[in-house]
Amino acid sequence: MYSFKNDYSEGAHPRILNALIESNLEQEEGYGEDSYSLKAIDLLKQKLGRTDVAIHLIPGGTQTNLIAISAFLRPHEAAIAAKTGHINTHETGAIEATGHKVVVAESDEGGKLTPEAVQAVLDAHPDEHMVKPKLVYISDTTEIGSIYTKGELEQLSEFCHAHNLILYMDGARLGSALCSEGNDLELSDLPELVDAFYIGGTKNGALLGEALVICRDALKEDFRYYIKQKGALLAKGRILGIQFLELFGDNLFFDLAAHANKMADRLREGLSEANFGFLADSPSNQIFPILPDILISSLQNNYSFHVWEKVDSDHSAIRLVTSWATKEEAISAFLEDIKELAKC
Ligand SMILES: Cc1ncc(COP(=O)(O)O)c(C=O)c1O
Repeated sequence: MYSFKNDYSEGAHPRILNALIESNLEQEEGYGEDSYSLKAIDLLKQKLGRTDVAIHLIPGGTQTNLIAISAFLRPHEAAIAAKTGHINTHETGAIEATGHKVVVAESDEGGKLTPEAVQAVLDAHPDEHMVKPKLVYISDTTEIGSIYTKGELEQLSEFCHAHNLILYMDGARLGSALCSEGNDLELSDLPELVDAFYIGGTKNGALLGEALVICRDALKEDFRYYIKQKGALLAKGRILGIQFLELFGDNLFFDLAAHANKMADRLREGLSEANFGFLADSPSNQIFPILPDILISSLQNNYSFHVWEKVDSDHSAIRLVTSWATKEEAISAFLEDIKELAKC
């Protein structure tokens, strides 16, 4: 059985494991004050071209979203997200459990938000008898594998700032977004455009870890208290620092994401050649081909993947995810198998 279920099915890139082993017996400060975390944060600031941002290393994506969003909002304020937004669909009500409603905005088939969609939410929440939408949650790549162009992000950013909204970007798969062929954003553009975002390590070759970047001054105060109170200030925070230092010490972070994208490109090309369509344009490491249900059942004997959604009475879209560790041979074998099975 080969898995295209996720980009966290494998452990960690060997260079990261080696870095953890090599530093294993060194004694370091705890709780993110170790020399590795401090260096990693400095390095990320350099890559962003901004020394004034605050950066915190946090173990996981749901944790990062809920700590950031609950810290940024006052009690009556709410987050706006696309229907497919991770905080709306796959975080077990984590944001709501902190007391903040997630209000759903209309999005296109790729799960991206526009100023018009956010405006419609604001119009529907006119006064204090309803929650006050205050933070706009977007993800890049989105949960449907689409990416924001610089122009789209600029428009959303201008709108949010004009309406005194906080723009927050979930970058669980930011590496894949920035290495996508259609991408025109640089990592260093983000602090200019969003108020906070995170750079995902877990889905891009790290054992675990996300780097939250807070760009707006008003959101920075006491942030370590919020992390600690939500149980996410790791005593052995060095584990996060060592990994981010390795990922960003050279081009490893981008090389791994580019590899995952390249493997997805090969899958996409092979499936297009075999005349299969796709649920949405997803130029990243997640693709959503539409297949006959009968073919999906046969494939499931040898491959695991998510069946994403029913498209008509006998077709569904499946989600195939490639990772930093996906091998060319696995892609070739899958494409050969699907072509064979489609003949039956
Ligand atoms: C866009 C996005 N955000 C956040 C998460 C949550 O990450 P974690 O599983 O580390 O909590 C995921 C995980 O799949 C994700 O796809």
